[in-house]
Amino acid sequence: MKLFTNSSQIITCNTEFKNYKSGSELNDIGLLSSYSIIVENGIIKDLIPNNSIKNRSDFEIIDLSGKVILPGLVECHTHLAFSGNRSDEYKLKLQGVTYEEIAKQGGGILKTVNSVKKTSIVELFELMEKRIKEFISQGITTIEIKSGYGLDFDNEIKLLHAIKLIDESYPIDVISTFLGAHTFPVEFSDNHDGYINQIIYEMIPYISKNNLAEFCDGFCEKTAFNAEEIDKIFQSAKSNKLKLKLHTDQFNSIGGIDVALKNQAISVDHLEVVTEEEISKLANKEIVCVLLPGVSFFLNHHFAPARKLIDANCIVALSTDFNPGSSHILNLHLIMQIAALKMKMSFEEIINSVTINAAKAIDRSHLVGSIEINKKADFAIFNTENYSDIFYSIGRNLVFMTVKNGNIIYKRD
Ligand code: NIG
Ligand code: FE
Repeated sequence: MKLFTNSSQIITCNTEFKNYKSGSELNDIGLLSSYSIIVENGIIKDLIPNNSIKNRSDFEIIDLSGKVILPGLVECHTHLAFSGNRSDEYKLKLQGVTYEEIAKQGGGILKTVNSVKKTSIVELFELMEKRIKEFISQGITTIEIKSGYGLDFDNEIKLLHAIKLIDESYPIDVISTFLGAHTFPVEFSDNHDGYINQIIYEMIPYISKNNLAEFCDGFCEKTAFNAEEIDKIFQSAKSNKLKLKLHTDQFNSIGGIDVALKNQAISVDHLEVVTEEEISKLANKEIVCVLLPGVSFFLNHHFAPARKLIDANCIVALSTDFNPGSSHILNLHLIMQIAALKMKMSFEEIINSVTINAAKAIDRSHLVGSIEINKKADFAIFNTENYSDIFYSIGRNLVFMTVKNGNIIYKRD
């Protein structure tokens, strides 16, 4: 048995096994002082006051004096399976060319697709490894990764295999999402049904049969798929036992929220331009609203209305959306800091949004996302005595140790 002890603070994000938080519950992080965590076989066995531990020699002691323990962070929306570089587009964006204009000119997602097509699975794996290691060093113990830069059968499957290899090779949990409906490939720009039929009749059945993804995602946007097209894809995904997520309301509100709600999606992601009417539809529902403030920061675009969503009792989560075009930000702590500065979320709301609610966004909140008995012993341990410093230390990584299933998988030298 292991004893994680002597820390200054334990942030449990306890939900009494409700496994998500909304509205004012988000301000409660379940802070414990002078407590220790008992771990057995990778699972949290108990949380006990330090002064009630009788025989410390019964345990392998992990002394965390002067440290803060959070639940292992959950990164619930990434596109880290890609190759290539779009810094040229970033320069254009800074000169005033918009993300949508770049996409219309054949840049954007399609530029990364061209690169991925030329990249072998081994090269992809090596690129992804570097990114995964960085996330682990930030205290991330569970991560979602999407395909979406292949846009044909072979290349989408190649990306999903690369994601699977990462899952098998690294101790953190990887949740795989099929995003074939990211945008239309050039060959199908005038034949949307042709590509949708490939997704529905070839890709989804194969992916489901071979267990290559747990979720199906899409991009509901004027430059990508309309609501009706997403609906068709969702019907097929559901009948093939894939769970649903949707990129929607990033630049335009074109009916994505309705389609997501109708099909019982687990999450709706982006929501920069979500309308009042849509917020009232999301209110008090068990769908997670995944906000991606790194995108607004990176594109100089306005931020999702986090306060309005929280006030409407929505379940809000936060993620990097790490990708080469709209959020080349491989740093969840920076996202947390941006959420505090730019979306007016409290430190406590943000912590719950990258732990228990992020876990809910990938249907894992019964296993991870909080420090509660019988959950996985996944911890992000920070080298500070007060969790506020995580927000105050902008651009720095204060993580001292990352623990997955009770094992130390990263420790700062
Ligand atoms: O989540 N919105 C669509 N997809 C990504 C961007 C992908 C890219 O530009 O390469 C996103 O922002
Ligand atoms: Fe995304």
